[in-house]
Amino acid sequence: MTDILIHHEGGVATLTFNRLDKKNSITAAMYAALADAVEAATADPDTRVLVIQGHETIFSAGNDIADFLNNPPATADSPVFRFLRAISTCPKPLVAAVCGPAVGIGTTLLFHCDLVYAGDNAAFSMPFVNLGLCPEAASSLLAPKLMGYHRAAEALLLGEPFMAETALEVGFVNRVVPPSEASAVAQSVARKLAAKPMASLVETKRFMKKGQAAEVAAVMAEEGESFGRMLRGPAAREAFGAFMDKRKPDFSKL
Ligand code: COA
Repeated sequence: MTDILIHHEGGVATLTFNRLDKKNSITAAMYAALADAVEAATADPDTRVLVIQGHETIFSAGNDIADFLNNPPATADSPVFRFLRAISTCPKPLVAAVCGPAVGIGTTLLFHCDLVYAGDNAAFSMPFVNLGLCPEAASSLLAPKLMGYHRAAEALLLGEPFMAETALEVGFVNRVVPPSEASAVAQSVARKLAAKPMASLVETKRFMKKGQAAEVAAVMAEEGESFGRMLRGPAAREAFGAFMDKRKPDFSKL
């Protein structure tokens, strides 16, 4: 799968979105490749740290809209949900390098990364309402917790993007760097982590996540059901149809 590049070096598995012509939007096949890669890295004793990254100009435009319309995720075992479960339960450290737009799951997957390095061109957005959908990846739980309720409402109810500086201020990212440096910074941090004792890393992450692990899994499953249902609803059909037709959606009757 060339839309997702997987590179192993020095105990670090790097997963790279590589579908620039479609702004790194993610198809079901890409979710399956990502889920497989995270599961394999989790099981592989030689892999100690995972890095997720996109391109200097774009992290990801989120779900591939045409693919989502044609193959909406039907069950909890659909590739998108499998990927979300894999990253949210991954016991090893996950590091992300994010530049440019990070739309929808491009932003929500970051709630499950341990360390996030952003280019100063990063623009995070969760426009689920504008697409006739609801949050996924437990973002309805994790965004208010991390950003505070009112900022989360701006991001989730209004669907407004927030930029790298705001992300840094609210603690959503660790550091903001020039886009050309984000990947190298993430790699250097990943190598630093990979040199540490594995059992200590895993145990520390487990304790940090323990308090909310069950709640995250439950919310993610509940959101997933609503998301799947709403994806087939009239508002999502209108929003996605409008995107494909390059026009503004009309929700006036919905
Ligand atoms: N699904 C499918 N195709 C997508 C896509 C997506 N989520 N995002 C972008 N593309 C495609 C466009 O259709 C276009 O294809 P074309 O060249 O065949 O017409 C190509 O990628 C370039 O996109 P474009 O919108 O021209 O790029 P841009 O630089 O002006 O804007 C974004 C980039 C990411 C801001 C914009 O593409 C966007 O908002 N995408 C939709 C994001 C979204 O709603 N995601 C769903 C979240 S659930």
